[in-house]
Amino acid sequence: MKVLGIETSCDETAAAVVENGTNILSSVVASSAEIHVKTGGIIPEQAARAQIQSLLPVIETALNKASIELNDVDSIAVTTGPGLIGSLLVGVETAKVLSFFLKIPIIPVNHLVGHIYANWLSDTPSFPCLALVVSGGHTDLVLMKDHGELNKIGATRDDAAGEAFDKTARLLGLPYPGGPAIEKDADIYFKINPNSSSQKLNLFPRPMIEKNNFDWSFSGLKTAVMREVESKHSITTSERSELAAQVQEAIVDVLITKSLKAIKKYKPKSFLLSGGVAANKRLKKKFGLALKQSKLKTKLYVPEPKLCTDNASYIASCAFFNPSITPWKNVYANPQLTISSSV
Ligand code: KG4
Ligand code: ZN
Repeated sequence: MKVLGIETSCDETAAAVVENGTNILSSVVASSAEIHVKTGGIIPEQAARAQIQSLLPVIETALNKASIELNDVDSIAVTTGPGLIGSLLVGVETAKVLSFFLKIPIIPVNHLVGHIYANWLSDTPSFPCLALVVSGGHTDLVLMKDHGELNKIGATRDDAAGEAFDKTARLLGLPYPGGPAIEKDADIYFKINPNSSSQKLNLFPRPMIEKNNFDWSFSGLKTAVMREVESKHSITTSERSELAAQVQEAIVDVLITKSLKAIKKYKPKSFLLSGGVAANKRLKKKFGLALKQSKLKTKLYVPEPKLCTDNASYIASCAFFNPSITPWKNVYANPQLTISSSV
């Protein structure tokens, strides 16, 4: 079964052909990020216009790379939300037209649930799973008893983890997107200070870390970084690298501490990292170590970095494992697989 995935929720235009939910035949991503570097963030109107320009060539390239024709596609998976409405519309309307003319089903996919399925493209996690979705707009902890049975047990109260990376990067004079830029600058710090411990990297607050729930708050970090930057006349490149390492450590620490608390409570067989922030090497390394030290039996899954950030292969995979078929006319009326709140 070959699913054509289409993902246009933000500034990436992506199409992928995935066989049986696990085998990526092709995955093509065009990004308008370069346009947004100039403004330090996304302007929705510009992102939507870039989607219009890129989508058909991206779909064509995905089909060519998979060595198939449109007629060989069995169904179409498309992100219906959450995301920027102008960008989403380009993908959904294109999917509707293809579904209408090819007379094949269209499967609407929630972008956040889709992110989790990057883990099925790299491995086969066992249920029950606990999934941490850390993207530019969301930080959600989701308990997954089976495909289609999802319950949110925690979320950010304000900024998302990716947003915290993006906003603090801007304060430090680093480009958009902030996560990879902060990671790169922090790597320079770790090269010069290979033995730097977590104790030394505790300049910034870890909000809500001790709270007896699974929620996060990242807006205070932004304020703390702003104060730190304002307290200096100018920042040298080495000071900036240290601040980048400090920011990264604060975000990584709270994500891991709260996730471990949830693992202790729910004892899942698998813990699934997903979303753009899951591409962060420090998060993966420290999470692996913390889980090992905790002696909990849960297995950690982290998709390879290019599957963590926005692409259409996980959208196609999610649709394969959750094939609730919706008549194309009702795509917006039936947003499939939203995550229920609280167990
Ligand atoms: O999932 P994603 O590609 O798009 C959304 O659905 O939002 O996530 C984008 C977010 C951005 O905030 C970006 O700064 C962050 O993921 N990100 C990273 C890394 N790569 C992307 N954050 C930390 N480290 C990275 N290596
Ligand atoms: Zn995403």
